[in-house]
Amino acid sequence: MERTFVMIKPDGVQRGLVGEVIRRFEAKGFTLTGLKLMSVSQELAEQHYDVHKEKPFFKGLVDFITSSPVVAMVWEGDGVVAGARKVIGATNPLTAEPGTIRGDFGLNIGRNLIHGSDAVETASREISLWFSEKELVTWKPTMMPWLHE
Ligand code: RTP
Ligand code: MG
Repeated sequence: MERTFVMIKPDGVQRGLVGEVIRRFEAKGFTLTGLKLMSVSQELAEQHYDVHKEKPFFKGLVDFITSSPVVAMVWEGDGVVAGARKVIGATNPLTAEPGTIRGDFGLNIGRNLIHGSDAVETASREISLWFSEKELVTWKPTMMPWLHE
């Protein structure tokens, strides 16, 4: 089953949106497989955003992610990588569609509330960066037959 990495960024946690974000992923039908509140080290933030290390916003982004706790999660489901990105919305909250998390709650690209892996390979790299194997729980919700034919 496909898995993705989702992180509620410091602004989402500080604004009290943890429950709202989890509610949306649960309501969509994805399965929660890993969950933790944590402070992010400089090293982990730099590794996570390694692909952006040459970008002008890199330092600000790392400072932001390490500034206050985040909620790290793994979600599972058919097509969850692309599906989670749809639930999250476009990178810039001002252009993100209403009904998406960024579209409903955000205003600024530097405070866009949440991260979701952008591809299946990225998801697998990010999951192993943020979670150990024993922190992930494989389980089957009993409502499965009501989500899939
Ligand atoms: P994310 O990785 O956080 O899920 O976001 P994304 O794929 O939609 O966007 P990405 O291009 O990967 O950018 C990563 C994060 O960097 C910050 N950013 N700031 N100031 C800027 O121009 C700028 N551009 C990107 C955002 O926090 C973005 O989510
Ligand atoms: Mg990205």
